[in-house]
Amino acid sequence: MFSLPYSKLPNIGLTIFSEMSQLAAQYNAINLGQGFPDYPMDDNLIAAVNKAMQDGNNQYTHTNGYPLLRQKLAEKVAELYQTNVNPETQITVTPGGTYAIYSALTSFLLPGDEVIVFEPAYDSYVPNIELCQAIPVFVRLEAPDFQIPWQTVREKISPKTKAIIVNSPHNPTGSVLSAQDMETLTEITRDTSIIVILDEVYEHLIFDDKKHESLLRYPELLERGFACFSFGKTYNCTGWKLGYAIGGEALMKEFRKVHQFNVFSCFTPTQVAFAHFLDNKSAYLELGKKMQAKRDFLLEKMKATEFEPLPSFGGYFQCYQYNGERKETGIELAKIITQEKKVTTIPVSAFYHDGGSPNQILRFCFCKKEETLEEAAWRLSR
Ligand SMILES: Cc1ncc(COP(=O)(O)O)c(C=O)c1O
Repeated sequence: MFSLPYSKLPNIGLTIFSEMSQLAAQYNAINLGQGFPDYPMDDNLIAAVNKAMQDGNNQYTHTNGYPLLRQKLAEKVAELYQTNVNPETQITVTPGGTYAIYSALTSFLLPGDEVIVFEPAYDSYVPNIELCQAIPVFVRLEAPDFQIPWQTVREKISPKTKAIIVNSPHNPTGSVLSAQDMETLTEITRDTSIIVILDEVYEHLIFDDKKHESLLRYPELLERGFACFSFGKTYNCTGWKLGYAIGGEALMKEFRKVHQFNVFSCFTPTQVAFAHFLDNKSAYLELGKKMQAKRDFLLEKMKATEFEPLPSFGGYFQCYQYNGERKETGIELAKIITQEKKVTTIPVSAFYHDGGSPNQILRFCFCKKEETLEEAAWRLSR
């Protein structure tokens, strides 16, 4: 009989997302836990993928990504962020943003290297680091604003620091980096060999006239870093799993070595479709406004509940502080609300490796139909 000699990720079990989704299904609850839209994506984009297939784009494409798509992405970046990136050497198309982050980390991390991770954190970062036998060094972001405490970052940087991973707009809190943050990041990493990874999958989901501070606006950071993106988040097609990384030339050369032997190339028809669909600029330029309307709709409807909103300036999520009488921890509270009110959320404490401090803060996903949000708020107000 085979017995497993060891696990490379001994502490990883069922994620909170799977656990809460199972509970949502069991109690027939409205699932505002996981971050995906419950409304249809653009039919024209579906038609463009069908056409790409019918036109015969069904074999492996270039390992770095369909060339026209990379060229169009470079044009988009030049216009949005006033940065010239070379599509031949700096852009690689990946099966989603998560994979781009994984490849960026595994291209460089050696056992014992340290990576600065801000918590609450998207759940893939730490396992990615641990798979390389590297060490996550945690810096806590605190409610209500979840701003980066740069002095703590300075104190945690050591000769072993290999990378810093940042996410803006931020999941789960909706905080966004400012120009001042980017300048501090540039200054802190100057004259070091630290690699900066900026998870920008919510690049276009930004509200209240905030400006997205992409890594691509900062040439010094781009040279020492990777910006990771997701078509799934921008075009309401999270199930298509397509994204891309843009990085400094020297870094991207190493990234591609891992990429080549991991996936070789990504699904061709969607790449062909996006290469043409990117000409439709309003699809991404108007996204922030549309998503802000959803956030505002939820904020309005939730006024009648025991939940107080925290600031959210971008992404798919709005966090709420529970102000009712229950004393349970965030995880227990989220489960009770699923069972009793039939609304499922994710506790923000689950995004900290040790359960975190803001333990009655719950994350609500608002990229849902208005009727879904209205029904959820009504159930919570009863
Ligand atoms: C912060 C963050 N990064 C990356 C991803 C994943 O992007 P993709 O689906 O393209 O892998 C998500 C998805 O929820 C996310 O919230």
